[in-house]
Amino acid sequence: MKKILLSGIKPTGRPHIGNYFGAMRQFVELQNEYECFFFIPDYHALTTVQNSEELKQNTLDVAIDYLAIGLDPEKVLLYKQSDIPEHAELAWIFDCLVTVPYLERAHAYKDAVAKKKEASVGLFNYPVLMAADILLYDTDVVPVGADQKQHVEIARDIAEKFNRIYGETFKLPNAHIMKEVAVVPGIDGQKMSKSYGNTIPLFAEDSDIEKLAMSIVTDSSGGVPKNVYEIHKLFRSEKELEKLYEEKAGKYKDLKEALIADMKNFIAPLRAKRATIAGDTGAVLKVLKDGGERTRALAQTKMDLVREKIGVKLY
Ligand code: TYM
Repeated sequence: MKKILLSGIKPTGRPHIGNYFGAMRQFVELQNEYECFFFIPDYHALTTVQNSEELKQNTLDVAIDYLAIGLDPEKVLLYKQSDIPEHAELAWIFDCLVTVPYLERAHAYKDAVAKKKEASVGLFNYPVLMAADILLYDTDVVPVGADQKQHVEIARDIAEKFNRIYGETFKLPNAHIMKEVAVVPGIDGQKMSKSYGNTIPLFAEDSDIEKLAMSIVTDSSGGVPKNVYEIHKLFRSEKELEKLYEEKAGKYKDLKEALIADMKNFIAPLRAKRATIAGDTGAVLKVLKDGGERTRALAQTKMDLVREKIGVKLY
């Protein structure tokens, strides 16, 4: 029996190379080894995207991205969260177990409060819905970037609490975080993030690659521009880079041009594959719909057990 792996990319904008190296690349590598669930958390996206046309387009885009990076719908389950209402149902059951002070310690909520943003109840409960996403399918492994580590820990805590109260029901999941790419920096050196506007899109056009690479913030201490190097090492081995960065020490423009050439080589075939897939949106939607139907059957079986455990199943 293969172990179960599950992960998701939120449909909140174009994926960037941080998403790819931190998480998506592992999806492709691991799809043969595990029983895989890859989904699009569209209900999670509602905390930030509140425009129906935008959410529809973003969701279709992530489905295309999944196929373009090489996920094979014959091997893995590809679906969107909203096709499986059991996610939201289970989240409510978990809501009744989790305390407010516990969730107040979650990073995303604390950040929102620190920035004096008015947090929605959805943002506050975000980790609970994510726990439902994960626990519903008896997931063993969740490949994510370091920013999602706390969320997987919360899912474990919730599983433990449920099991303690109602008896053994949920498996405890583990995060799978690749150390070298746990936090991919953006062009300003902070974590690459859609919300910081410092990203290099995974399917960027050549002209954008040039513009973005040239705007990577360099500090002038020593000959190696750290932010350029940290991004460059995603595309070329450190052994090769050491030589290049030694030869071109202090020549930031040359180093950025070398990075641009490597990024273009890497992104061009992905972009071409994506364009082909995007040419037949009907086929993409069919993959998503079929995946949703197959996955829902599994979710229903698990929820039947959960309903029995909590005492709402009378017939
Ligand atoms: P999202 O869409 O923000 O990010 C998708 C994946 O990309 C990783 N990531 C990064 N990794 C390294 N460096 C970076 N700069 C970087 N930026 C993003 C994220 O860690 C993530 O793995 N909450 C999730 C979506 C979600 C989910 C789930 C994931 C909902 N339910 C259940 C796994 C399991 C999110 O916002 O990802």
